[in-house]
Amino acid sequence: MLLSDTLKQLLNILADGEFHSGTELAKQLAISRSAIWKQLQALADLGVDLIAITGKGYRLQHPLQLLNQQTVISQLAPLTQTLIQQLEIHDVIDSTNRHLLEQARQGASSGTVCVAEHQTAGRGRRGRQWVSPFGHNLYLSILWHYQNGPAAIAGLSLALGVAVVRALKQLGVDEVGLKWPNDIYCQQRKLAGILVEVSGESSGPCHAVIGLGLNFYLSPQQAETIEQAWIDIASVLGENAHQHRNHLLALLLNQLLPVIAEFEAKGLSHFVDEWRSYDCLKGQAASLYIGENRFDGTIIGIDDNGLIQLADPQGQIRTYASGEVSFRPS
Ligand code: BTN
Repeated sequence: MLLSDTLKQLLNILADGEFHSGTELAKQLAISRSAIWKQLQALADLGVDLIAITGKGYRLQHPLQLLNQQTVISQLAPLTQTLIQQLEIHDVIDSTNRHLLEQARQGASSGTVCVAEHQTAGRGRRGRQWVSPFGHNLYLSILWHYQNGPAAIAGLSLALGVAVVRALKQLGVDEVGLKWPNDIYCQQRKLAGILVEVSGESSGPCHAVIGLGLNFYLSPQQAETIEQAWIDIASVLGENAHQHRNHLLALLLNQLLPVIAEFEAKGLSHFVDEWRSYDCLKGQAASLYIGENRFDGTIIGIDDNGLIQLADPQGQIRTYASGEVSFRPS
């Protein structure tokens, strides 16, 4: 879904987070005050947090920077420009991952990228919902076709975590780490998550949709339904963080696309040492949940295949291919 030009213009005026009176808005958009009111209502319906104060006007609860295709493209590295096929920016979509899985069935090429301002049905790992309010965070999916089946790209999601950490460090987010298998953590709270959805034959060609959700700014109300401890870029970089939204999207594409394109040839071994250097679980007391089962112990790290190693209370090291890790206060 695309927002009307008038709504976009209104958002661009309000994006600075300052107060704007109804009269000023009506004048700038050359529409009546009652038409402005209707547009503001439409923004509220999208979930945009607005503050209205009599005598002052309207402002966004938090300033934002709308995504802009030209701004992003102008910051793409030459290699990324050769790998990217198309950059779709949607105002509202159900899920960028679902959309690209559908596009793949219809013959879309590797390097098709889909980004949205708002997802109405954002998907997280393990069937969870990914909270995706309008205009503040990044919701990004990339489609790639691989020659060999899902087994050959088993470690891809770990390598993607490395790419995301590299991009965040370039932006100046230093205290960033990886929580197995591919959550991006900062100050022991989740900053971003990766969901790779693969379809195709187990041993033949397959296509992967790589989805990344990254919290730029979440209001406490928007985050109410998030069960895990979370953090956003605004808490790390301060109140002007939103000004880097398009820039971070370009940095992410510059890091992710080469990793996605080269993974089949390079494999996880090319990334495993760097992954280990960002491991924020290593040495921590933690519990690993697999279905109904819980295994307590100390995290040793990951093996060369990207499986997690946990030392049980007797000191015996066991390796697990899947599960959900939760920190335990030591
Ligand atoms: C996780 O649970 O940690 C993974 C979250 C992945 C969310 C992203 S947002 C963009 C893409 N589209 C989706 O529906 N999900 C992924």
